[in-house]
Amino acid sequence: MVGADTAGEALGYGTQVFTGIRPTGDLTIANYLGAVREIVDLQQTYEPVVFVADVHGMTDQSPDTVAEHREEVVKDFLALGVDPDRAEIFTQSQLLRPLGAATVLLSGEITLNELTNVPTLKDKLGDEQDPLSIRTLMALYPVLMAADILAQRAELVPVGKDQIAHIELTRDLARRFNDRHEPTFPMPSAYMADGGGEPLKILALTGDGKMSKSQPGGALFLADDRSEVTRKVRRAQTGMDGQVTPHIESLVNIAKGLTGDATVHQKVDGIIDEYKAGGQVMGQLKGVVTTVVNDFLGEYRYQRAAQGPDLVHDVLAQGNARANARAEETLDAMMSALKM
Ligand code: TYM
Repeated sequence: MVGADTAGEALGYGTQVFTGIRPTGDLTIANYLGAVREIVDLQQTYEPVVFVADVHGMTDQSPDTVAEHREEVVKDFLALGVDPDRAEIFTQSQLLRPLGAATVLLSGEITLNELTNVPTLKDKLGDEQDPLSIRTLMALYPVLMAADILAQRAELVPVGKDQIAHIELTRDLARRFNDRHEPTFPMPSAYMADGGGEPLKILALTGDGKMSKSQPGGALFLADDRSEVTRKVRRAQTGMDGQVTPHIESLVNIAKGLTGDATVHQKVDGIIDEYKAGGQVMGQLKGVVTTVVNDFLGEYRYQRAAQGPDLVHDVLAQGNARANARAEETLDAMMSALKM
């Protein structure tokens, strides 16, 4: 897959694996499973670039909230296993000049009508709010996201299911720009762990919808202690009558996604087989999930506590400089394609 889709384009891929997280609250294990886990796996082979999407954070959070979480996300990337010797980490706001310019230029490729019909925006607003009444930064969310990806000339973008529509739009914008002007961008793709499988959507433990930083009751946070994890998993929705519901699938994805231990995977598969055959085994499944999550978070806590005081500063100094240079190079190519 790497190296595909480049024919005839002026710029090559600038980075093979790329993703970002908004610093809008404490991270959940779904953030890890949806995006960071693939980065950690792929860094054996590639040199990933990850970033803190703090400008995106401003679309619905205060500058104070974003400032409070900005460096926490960097610490989390590192504690979750992003290796600073293999990967770059940057903050989006430190690249705002090239990214802002790229956003303006890319917005020449999309109509207001298309922007207000992006499914993620519609979901966010619900039926009551008129899309034309929102702040323009919110409407520009997917164009800025396209700028993030295209400025780094990313090839594979690990994201959860909720971001797939944005990756599709990024590809559309790249295609339109390449076709209407000069071939400039290599084509990015969403990356799924099993290479082409279903994008991941971890559900809230209770109720409907995805597990999210903004729905604390249904989320397992990286910051949760052992007793919180135990309590939340005990209350998690499951299913009845041997039906494997999306909530059960989510619990399976959590247990299998947080450990590579084959015996745990077999145990989970065995529990699900027994459940399908009529066994009352959801308590067992919850027991495995609780243990796996607590083991994972124990290691995370250890890694966070072991971080030296200058680590974040040093990592960002290097990451910001490199990512900025790449973004400037892409912006130059965009401007030249537009005869500027
Ligand atoms: P954010 O901060 O909402 O989420 C970060 C990552 O976590 C994934 N994720 C999930 N995956 C599975 N199940 C869930 N319940 C779940 N909740 C969150 C998200 O899909 C995401 O991959 N727009 C992005 C940030 C962004 C970005 C980018 C990402 C800005 N520019 C460029 C990649 C490339 C966002 O809101 O992520």
